[in-house]
Amino acid sequence: MHLEDSHGRSFHYLRLSITEACNFRCSYCLPNGFSKPANACRPLSVQETSNLVSGFAELGFWKMRLTGGEPTIRSDILEVIEAVARTPGIRQVALTTNGYRLRKIARELRDAGLHSLNVSLDSLDSDRFREITGQPRLSEVMDGIDAALVAGIPSVKVNAVLLRGVNEQDLGSFIELAKETPIGIRFIELMRTGQNEEYFLRHHLPVGALQFRLARSGWKPLEKRAGDGPALEYGHSDYRGRIGVIAPYSREFCRSCNRLRVSSQGGLRLCLFGEGDFPLRTLLQSPSQKGELVDTVRALIDRKPESHLLHQGKFGNASTLAAIGG
Ligand code: 5AD
Ligand code: SF4
Repeated sequence: MHLEDSHGRSFHYLRLSITEACNFRCSYCLPNGFSKPANACRPLSVQETSNLVSGFAELGFWKMRLTGGEPTIRSDILEVIEAVARTPGIRQVALTTNGYRLRKIARELRDAGLHSLNVSLDSLDSDRFREITGQPRLSEVMDGIDAALVAGIPSVKVNAVLLRGVNEQDLGSFIELAKETPIGIRFIELMRTGQNEEYFLRHHLPVGALQFRLARSGWKPLEKRAGDGPALEYGHSDYRGRIGVIAPYSREFCRSCNRLRVSSQGGLRLCLFGEGDFPLRTLLQSPSQKGELVDTVRALIDRKPESHLLHQGKFGNASTLAAIGG
């Protein structure tokens, strides 16, 4: 089976937030830290997650990314990964993390079946790292990245959000990191959300200048392969790693969208910047509900908007990306 929408996009990649909580306070995301909403429910259990993933696998989804919040806050993170990785049809399990526990659990993550790891890291300078995240933990995170490479997690990437006047000086050292290390560096253009307007106006840095710099120093755009998402990838013969650029404000971005999102409470979000979630949790209570779950997602897919409306200053219910993991 195969899920396609009326704009000719097909979907095989699900981003699943497994907790809204985060222990970092990134300046563009959760500047005042995470506080539990009054109406908070517990996140999907391992069994509910397994039922969800099994339904999406039936729809042709083969790549699952666990996000948060900070997913490794969950004490049962390894069980969640194992449950997702052993679902028939799932070929890749990925995780996005701020890296704070990575040094300790990298090997266990790999053993649980993790294929791909994205570490959010916005500066390689320890003072700036602390300024951005509110945590003096750069060296722990760097050790965590090494531990992930040593453990043999097949794909390890670093995600850095471009921030004007904050981490522009770090670009060179990020690119250098890709020289000897088989690591992907992804630069993400800051996105406007409901809560970061002032910050966005001050620190938004369009990716164009970076792309120009990459081209000038010999980085070549790599051709997109089937199943690739909106990231633009670059390679260089002198570097072991790759550079990726995520340009959410570019025209092509939504056209190559290959993903859906589900919140930690089991709400289907068709677009990161869409309005509202469609609650799926009642359909995750027993494996026998799989047929109904599949039919429900099929019926909803044509409500996925052709494009976000960020250009018009509209960001739907994305008041921050903290709960849904970008
Ligand atoms: N713009 C761009 N990226 C963001 N993230 C969180 N908020 C934003 C934003 N406003 C990113 C984090 C991390 C991923 C989970 O989402 O840096 O890489
Ligand atoms: Fe930072 Fe990610 Fe936590 Fe937001 S969710 S505060 S970006 S670590």
